[in-house]
Amino acid sequence: MTITMNPIGFVRSPFAEVSQIPKGCGAQHEAGGTLELLPEFADGLTDIEGFSHLYVIWCFDRLSDDDYDLVFAPPTDTRAHGVFASRSPRRPNHLGLTVVRLLGRDGATLRVGGIDMLDGTPILDIKPYMSNVPADQLRRGWLADAESRTLADHWQNVYQTKAVTDVSWFAPHLDDSLGAIAAVAGPDARVIDVGGGAATLVDDLLDRGYRHVTVLDISARALEISRERLGARAADVTWMAADVTSVDFAGRVFDLWHDRAVFHFLTDAAHRAAYVAQLRRHVAPGGHVVISTFSLAGPTKCSGLTIVQYDAASLARELGDAFALVDAVDVVHITPNATAQRFVRCRFRRV
Ligand SMILES: C[S@@+](CC[C@H](N)C(=O)[O-])C[C@H]1O[C@@H](n2cnc3c(N)ncnc32)[C@H](O)[C@@H]1O
Repeated sequence: MTITMNPIGFVRSPFAEVSQIPKGCGAQHEAGGTLELLPEFADGLTDIEGFSHLYVIWCFDRLSDDDYDLVFAPPTDTRAHGVFASRSPRRPNHLGLTVVRLLGRDGATLRVGGIDMLDGTPILDIKPYMSNVPADQLRRGWLADAESRTLADHWQNVYQTKAVTDVSWFAPHLDDSLGAIAAVAGPDARVIDVGGGAATLVDDLLDRGYRHVTVLDISARALEISRERLGARAADVTWMAADVTSVDFAGRVFDLWHDRAVFHFLTDAAHRAAYVAQLRRHVAPGGHVVISTFSLAGPTKCSGLTIVQYDAASLARELGDAFALVDAVDVVHITPNATAQRFVRCRFRRV
């Protein structure tokens, strides 16, 4: 069967060559451009202004007909995957699908953000984007694994190449965290420090008699440093080398979830949704969540990675209805090279 389609319009984008389009793990598609429909299709845009996002179905027109690989290693991973488990252009039918942000309409032209197509790409169809898949049911397959491995490599490298006392987030003791935990959770509480790194919070919790402490970090080396420091006392702690957004906690629940400077690294909405889904599943009703992030007056990067700044209101919005904001304080952290970094530390209760 042969299917013949004609373009309904063309993309105008800042990308003249494929090499200019961001690719790979964490690639952000922020570029603006236009979707210019042919005049005879303009009426088809009637009432489109009310939609925030659109699907654009388009054609990889610069590939020749027989250019495809059924199994290949994409730029987002070193491992091979099937073409239908990927967004590769090199597919049997050269169809592209992009979700763009609709910024406005001028007659037959739509101004959009989030373009990842080459200039002059033929558009085959446009539809309103509506996702009714709850965030906690969305699974990102091998992509999540590949992203976790890339992230784990980054952090493993940090802890292998830098002294723990030299990293910008180092503090001899996490006094503010300790105070915030002790105010709402006693020694019997099941406490988890996510992205605990090599911090001494775990030592201080053990010193205060906490009996059910878990430390999770994506870097196995960070946990090893803490275990070496604790010596025999390390056996009293549960250690988990894993990505907090995807780890399987095997049904465990916690009365107190602590995170100093991890959530703000989640620049991708899907990762934040996965983190919040973990909170919903694994924080006991009535339990507490203590999260510190860079504040709106804080840095925009840490460890070479872009972060998201928060205030109490925006963090509360991310956590959603299942978590009630209890309090929030501004905290100034002084880095080992004497720079002041502004954090906001928020405490939430699981409702
Ligand atoms: C800025 S450091 C903070 C460490 C510690 N919380 C402290 O305050 O000293 C961020 C830590 O989060 C860990 N991390 C980053 N992303 C993570 C993820 N997705 N899952 C688990 N740990 C992560 C890093 O390995 C690192 O130890």
